[in-house]
Amino acid sequence: MKAWVVHELGGPESLRFEDVDAGAPVAGEVRIKIHAASINFPDVLMVAGLYQVKPDLPFVPGIEASGEVVKAPAASGFKPGDRVMAMLDNAGLTHGGYAELADAAARSVMRMPPSMPFDEAAGFTIVFQTGWFALHRRANLQPGETLLVHAGAGGVGSAAIQLGKAAGATVIATAGSDEKVAVCRKLGADHAINYKTQDFVEEVKRITGGRGADVVFDPVGGDVFDRSTKCVAFEGRIVVIGFTSGRIPQAATNHVLIKNYSVVGLHWGLYAKRMPELITVAERALTELYEAGKIKPYVSTRLPLTQAPRALALVAEGKSTGKVVLTISS
Ligand SMILES: NC(=O)c1ccc[n+]([C@@H]2O[C@H](COP(=O)([O-])OP(=O)(O)OC[C@H]3O[C@@H](n4cnc5c(N)ncnc54)[C@H](OP(=O)(O)O)[C@@H]3O)[C@@H](O)[C@H]2O)c1
Repeated sequence: MKAWVVHELGGPESLRFEDVDAGAPVAGEVRIKIHAASINFPDVLMVAGLYQVKPDLPFVPGIEASGEVVKAPAASGFKPGDRVMAMLDNAGLTHGGYAELADAAARSVMRMPPSMPFDEAAGFTIVFQTGWFALHRRANLQPGETLLVHAGAGGVGSAAIQLGKAAGATVIATAGSDEKVAVCRKLGADHAINYKTQDFVEEVKRITGGRGADVVFDPVGGDVFDRSTKCVAFEGRIVVIGFTSGRIPQAATNHVLIKNYSVVGLHWGLYAKRMPELITVAERALTELYEAGKIKPYVSTRLPLTQAPRALALVAEGKSTGKVVLTISS
């Protein structure tokens, strides 16, 4: 099979397109013929050797894909031809998504919602599960509350906007360009702020009549986190999702105390290990929302597998909106 392989850590240009001997499926795992693979920000970090998970070299990047089952152990509950989406762990050359085939642990394979196309399915699980756990499990978002979503036009941000609206919240989104602000509005944000030309703290206070946001969804960190503490409401919750700004901020606990707010973390991947039953609860809820037309993965860019370095660079440079997806038609 053809696959993009990382032999040396670095930027997107360090990927090599190669023939990889897929051999027989890894024992006990589900072999999937990949139709689409999405680019996630952690791919950028993993290829550079900067992610908490560091696969042995060489490895095939790509932690999320959709496709058809080719072969599956009887105990897995899957059979050839099933349309599935899978989380991939990059351990070994048949475990990454930037490839024509991948082997995945059965517990990491889910059935696609029946009406969902492969490109949407490749970009569905991580961003919507992250959004669901952040808003419902960690922040307990309530109808009528105000949700502030940073990097609203990005992958997890685009999902959080839609989930916030589906939950009955008023959604304020921030983004780094007028084009991205327009994307946030299209995704359903009630208010969208270009944080490069407007002061989002002042805007959030103005929109909320001085109260601030009840829940802040923060995949950016750095100054964005620091400034969010200035516009979080009494009893508000700031959910720490990631640090695309490149700086891990420090929470001032005296400020947390005097303003009565919470800083809560979310590491979605840990739920698969610690509370897998909740992943299934979220999967059911998300499938229902999708089938009801209330959420939809925002796939902004589709590129063929041969253009994986370009696709990865778009995400690495913060130039993408929504999901960038590799389409694979072998
Ligand atoms: N905690 C979890 O369980 C979990 C799960 C999934 C993802 N994540 C994390 O969430 C973060 C976002 O992931 P994503 O897939 O949504 O990424 P994405 O689609 O690439 O969006 C990230 C956005 O961050 C903003 N940004 C600000 N400073 C940036 C910089 N220096 N470089 C690049 N982007 C910058 C950009 O939006 P603007 O131009 O609008 O600023 C960009 O569009 C990542 O850190 C990822 O690791 C965490």
